[in-house]
Amino acid sequence: MNYEIKVFKNKQILAEAMTIDLLNARAESPKNRRFNIALAGGNTPRSVYKQWATIQDDSLWRNVHFFWGDERCVPPDDNDSNYKLAHDTFLSKILVNENQIHRIHGEADPERETKRYAIEIESYLPNKNNLPQFDWILLGIGTDGHTASLFPNSLALKEQSSICTVAQHPQTGQKRISLTLPVINNARKVTFLVTGDEKAEIVPKILRDKNNSLTFPAAQVNPQSGILKWYLDEAAASKL
Ligand code: 6PG
Repeated sequence: MNYEIKVFKNKQILAEAMTIDLLNARAESPKNRRFNIALAGGNTPRSVYKQWATIQDDSLWRNVHFFWGDERCVPPDDNDSNYKLAHDTFLSKILVNENQIHRIHGEADPERETKRYAIEIESYLPNKNNLPQFDWILLGIGTDGHTASLFPNSLALKEQSSICTVAQHPQTGQKRISLTLPVINNARKVTFLVTGDEKAEIVPKILRDKNNSLTFPAAQVNPQSGILKWYLDEAAASKL
């Protein structure tokens, strides 16, 4: 696994670094080419989304299309919704058209929604290695080493032939929709965003312990021809 680890003093400085990465990515990609990004869920990305909302250069957002790496099967106005987090902190504050936002319909029947979302992804993304290719996927990790909604020892993690799949939270039983590992590993760039001391235990198990790291879904993220970055704050990196 080739990856770059960057440790930042705190999550605000990490968010500012992510903004520079975004600006660089947009400067490097042709403005008339669609830039497809899959946003992360959970709470960690909140500081990044708030920082991105300060970019009021409308030309930067032109042709950027927002997807999600996963979604809880809840309505879009539910406080548990990953879409709601991104909408309230970021997307509602920048100039984007509705057709640039491709939320997962958490309110729909999960099996049907995986098919609908997969068709939407395929219709907007270029294809590489017979899979849709995202320009950038943002991910978080749980204390059990899950990422997106791919939990350890789950069928969703083992799914190899679909673009997205139904998943289930092992403790709460909450249904989720998640991108599958092959699609994540087909991305041009993947950035993990990990902050807080509650992640300090799992980080070295994923990044340093070669023996059993593969039991953790996050350790199986290794973009074949893409770039992998781990952005940590000092608290999350404290046992690395
Ligand atoms: C989700 C995310 C999940 C999240 C991790 C970390 O829908 O919950 O996709 O993978 O990134 O659970 O969550 P926190 O950022 O809240 O710690």
